[in-house]
Amino acid sequence: MQTTLIILKPDAVQRGLMGSIISRFEDKGLRIVGCKMMLIPRDLAEKHYEVHADKPFYEGLLNFMTSGPVLVIALQGVDAVEVCRKLMGATFGSKAEPGTIRGDFGISNSFNLIHGSDSPETALEELDRFFKHGDLIDYERAIEPWVYDMTAGSPE
Ligand code: RTP
Ligand code: MG
Repeated sequence: MQTTLIILKPDAVQRGLMGSIISRFEDKGLRIVGCKMMLIPRDLAEKHYEVHADKPFYEGLLNFMTSGPVLVIALQGVDAVEVCRKLMGATFGSKAEPGTIRGDFGISNSFNLIHGSDSPETALEELDRFFKHGDLIDYERAIEPWVYDMTAGSPE
């Protein structure tokens, strides 16, 4: 099982798309183990996107990410990082495939609704950055044995 960090960006909140986007993940079988609405402080946004510090879009990205509330979600499942990135679709809304979150709900290349960790290592760092120890809840849903084949003792 992996846990990944998802952020529903300010455009998703403002456009009233939080429920629709969360449904995509729930429908897939991913389990929400943490969730909070917050205003991202500037220094946290800088750290979160520091790999893009030298890019021309960096300043605009920081302004966007700090422009209103976001919904930060920790999602758990087998291969959750890769599964979520696939559900999100390509970075640019104009290029993202139909059937993906970015492909179905947006057309902008910078206001692209959602962030998702891009590797298991990044996911650990990002979860640590956005959630305090104890914020994430370890639990099982009643549907778990139907979401995964548990007959061999581990989720298949
Ligand atoms: P994210 O980190 O937000 O999950 O997105 P990503 O991995 O798909 O894309 P990344 O290359 O990491 O870019 C981070 C965010 O910067 C904005 N962006 N704007 N206008 C542009 O050329 C441009 N390029 C990137 C997007 O909001 C993108 O998600
Ligand atoms: Mg990225």
